[in-house]
Amino acid sequence: MNNMTLTNVNSPIKLNNGVEIPCVGYGTFRTDPAVTAQAVQDAIAAGYRHIDTAKVYENEVGVGQGIKAAGVPREELFVTSKLWNTDRGYEATKAAFQASLDRLGLDYLDLYLIHWPANEKQFGADAAKINAETWRAMEELYEAGKIRAIGLSNFMPHHVAELLKTAKIKPMVDQIEVHPGWTHAEEIKKLQAMDIVVEAWGPLGGQGATVLVDPTMQKIAATHGKSTAQVSLRWILQQGVVPLPKSVHVDRLKQNMELFDFELSNEEMQTIAALPNLGGQCKDPDDVDF
Ligand code: A2P
Repeated sequence: MNNMTLTNVNSPIKLNNGVEIPCVGYGTFRTDPAVTAQAVQDAIAAGYRHIDTAKVYENEVGVGQGIKAAGVPREELFVTSKLWNTDRGYEATKAAFQASLDRLGLDYLDLYLIHWPANEKQFGADAAKINAETWRAMEELYEAGKIRAIGLSNFMPHHVAELLKTAKIKPMVDQIEVHPGWTHAEEIKKLQAMDIVVEAWGPLGGQGATVLVDPTMQKIAATHGKSTAQVSLRWILQQGVVPLPKSVHVDRLKQNMELFDFELSNEEMQTIAALPNLGGQCKDPDDVDF
């Protein structure tokens, strides 16, 4: 992807099926359901058009209310949700998708993701089959026109390679944890080489991380007259990755859009990439037991 063509959060990136995704999304992980409608309405009013939620966030109803209250035509928005782990399998996936649509009050999604791969730790030799069956349902929903693009989350390249053995349709997106100190650099390159757009969850490190107060980040931020949050998001964008920052504060969600009036040098990109682990969830998808 040529980053130079990106001029604002809604600059489009083309997915492998031709659908365009705004290059920065508004994240809602850990957004309290009670404040979600207002936060989403504020985000859309500020200019975000790409909203990312998931069943497990328990705030899809609020996201839908915020979308309605914002009054922007549906076709101008890009809305993502995700299939939770308890809903894997062919039939359950179809039912869970419809339930997400109903909670959101929408009649189609722009992007629907499998939230986590079934792993061998939990499912042994059945893991690959469970993922394949889940994907088959996603493909049918896509072909029926109910979802504009389908993809994955927390799938490492080896999970994707396994899925591709049976997939008819190649995933368009993979959303993984990416932030300074948790780079996934090799995985990003491999996924992009497969023509899969990578999205970054937890792009600021998320709860408990020290990304935003790291002295190296602060130094680079000061050089550009920017915040450490903006440097983190810009570092992600310059890798051709779509960041999904979350904030329930209007000043911050606006700040997180101001990423297009500065550029990190190659040296700065590398310095940030070399930072040690600064916290975050940092989970290995093959090791989780949820
Ligand atoms: P809040 O919603 O109270 O603003 P991530 O997107 O990596 O999950 O991180 C989001 C966390 O960072 C949230 O705790 C959010 O809190 C906070 N946050 C979001 N934007 C900024 C910002 N520009 N500056 C400082 N903290 C931010």
